[in-house]
Amino acid sequence: MAAEVERNAGPDVRHLKLQGHVGFDSLPDQLVNKSVAQGFCFNILCVGETGLGKSTLMDTLFNTQFESEPAPHSLPNVKLNAKTYALQESNVRLKLTVVDTVGFGDQINKEDSYKSIVEHIDKQFENYLQEELKIKRALHIYHDTRIHACLYFIAPTGHSLKSLDLVTMKKLDSKVNIIPVIAKADTVSKGELHKFKIKIMSELVSNGVQIYQFPTDDETVAELNSTMNGHLPFAVVGSNEEVKVGNKTVRARQYPWGVVQVENESHCDFVKLREMLIRTNMEDLIEQTHARHYELYRRCRLEEMGFMDSDPEGKPTSLQETYEQKRSTHLQQLQQKEDEMRQSFVVRVKEKEAELKMSEKELHEKFDALKKQHTEDKKKMEEKRKMLDEEINLFNKKKLAAQQAQQAAEEAAAHQTIKGKKKYHWL
Ligand code: GTP
Ligand code: MG
Repeated sequence: MAAEVERNAGPDVRHLKLQGHVGFDSLPDQLVNKSVAQGFCFNILCVGETGLGKSTLMDTLFNTQFESEPAPHSLPNVKLNAKTYALQESNVRLKLTVVDTVGFGDQINKEDSYKSIVEHIDKQFENYLQEELKIKRALHIYHDTRIHACLYFIAPTGHSLKSLDLVTMKKLDSKVNIIPVIAKADTVSKGELHKFKIKIMSELVSNGVQIYQFPTDDETVAELNSTMNGHLPFAVVGSNEEVKVGNKTVRARQYPWGVVQVENESHCDFVKLREMLIRTNMEDLIEQTHARHYELYRRCRLEEMGFMDSDPEGKPTSLQETYEQKRSTHLQQLQQKEDEMRQSFVVRVKEKEAELKMSEKELHEKFDALKKQHTEDKKKMEEKRKMLDEEINLFNKKKLAAQQAQQAAEEAAAHQTIKGKKKYHWL
């Protein structure tokens, strides 16, 4: 214990003895009171084929009736449906979000079934990261929608996992705490169930799928948790029916041959699941989500944005240094782009100027040619006009001569006629 205190305080810290009661031993109570006043937030994702009993199990787990509608089997894609409820038990308030995968496993091509689930989980991480990166953060009142637990419903085939189950769990295991459950376990016999559980676990191990392990580092729950780890995947039964057994009314499923009691540990693992998920490890699930899954998402996103804790030579760099470095590289790139654009603008202007000069020259040449042509045409016209004028003059002269000749002829003819008449008269 002393060694533990030493380790927590650090080697450079001096240990002093208090000489009386100070009061900081109430810190854990202050923390509890604050948490209770704030309320808690827990988000469950139910992944499983249509009709496997997801909604019924949620109702059974929280002993209430959540809103749910049976999903059709005809959806073209898997859709995620999140609903938030405010629950209260004694003075503890819980804001519970249940996310359902509607239409999971119903498509002929199931290759992309996991995508919308991954997108949903990442979206919640991204929302949280954006809130964290804001200048004015309000994380204390922020509705944290990050998925804390994923209940993966395995069909009670008694054979082995489907490839859809393996692919989906593999894609999700680094993003969320997966707790696999065998759905409708009342449809599989005890012996088959035992073999089925072993088969599922060996398939998960051989495919490298990491499922959530109940923590064994806290000694108060270490034994219980390690025993429960050995019972995974829990074989569960859900029911909204109440049946009278002896003098007690219990949730159960009634068959012609008997009654399956949901909370009877010799009938199914429902109680184990409820104990582990809600009573013992809810806080650890929340913590693991923040410390492991969100941390991984945050690291990848910040690295994607170019932030690093150390430079390429391994020297530690702060966020501010990286930011300033990025900013100066960005400004340099911007300047370079601007210079390039300016240069290309100058080149374009020169090209355009040369083109304009060329077309101006062509226009001038065309104009000169036209002018020359016009002068020649004008000269030719002048010559033609001159020739025509000469012809007209000649014609006029000829016309005048002809007129004169005609007149002389007419006068001569008239003279002859008078002469003749005189002769006749005389006769
Ligand atoms: P969708 O939301 O439509 O995908 O279905 P779901 O997975 O929410 O299943 P739901 O809870 O609606 O249950 C479907 C049917 O299975 C109902 O008739 C339930 O009564 C029945 N059912 C639910 N849980 C169990 C169970 O543990 N065992 C058996 N045998 N039947 C169950
Ligand atoms: Mg449902």
